[in-house]
Amino acid sequence: MNNLAKDLDRVLFTEEEIAARVRELAGQITRDYAGKEVLAVCLLRGSAVFFADLVRKIDLPLIFDFMALSSYGGQAKSSGSVVVKKDLDTDLTGRHVLIVEDIIDTGRTLTCLKQLLAHRGAASVKICALLDKPSRRETPIEGDYIGFTIPNHFVVGYGLDFDQRYRNLPYIGILSPRIYQR
Ligand code: PRP
Repeated sequence: MNNLAKDLDRVLFTEEEIAARVRELAGQITRDYAGKEVLAVCLLRGSAVFFADLVRKIDLPLIFDFMALSSYGGQAKSSGSVVVKKDLDTDLTGRHVLIVEDIIDTGRTLTCLKQLLAHRGAASVKICALLDKPSRRETPIEGDYIGFTIPNHFVVGYGLDFDQRYRNLPYIGILSPRIYQR
């Protein structure tokens, strides 16, 4: 077992399972946006890996941009506030915006962001999230495209971190409580 895998309780989604689901999501997006150009927005840092895989499977005219928001700080629990740390460089007027997110947890990040982007004149704003934890929701927001709905596990890998680590695991695993409880 390698250095990172020993900190996991178990693997939740393998590389192959993730790749298959990403292909399905991209296919759905390609069909739904036919005839339009998409502005794909990557929410740093957690979405970077998912974003890179997803956009390469979308067969449409597409541009992308990056944004960084923060809701967690370095902790396992949400601090409750959302701060824009890096804003988009693209004018959203008339654009079809697809926000690409790694996980929807309390929903605060996306509730805030959707409102912000809708006020910038976008023609549409939709959400594609790889993971969804509906049991943790505090604001009533839903993704338009969801990879996997999961229970309230502490998940890492494929972009998701604990204290900035484990993002480079190529699959998604459940972090052992002995790591985040110490
Ligand atoms: C995480 C995750 C989502 C957000 C979800 O980001 O990537 O953006 O929290 O939580 P919410 O639904 O409760 O708002 P984080 O702030 O940890 O930053 P990161 O993407 O750099 O890991």
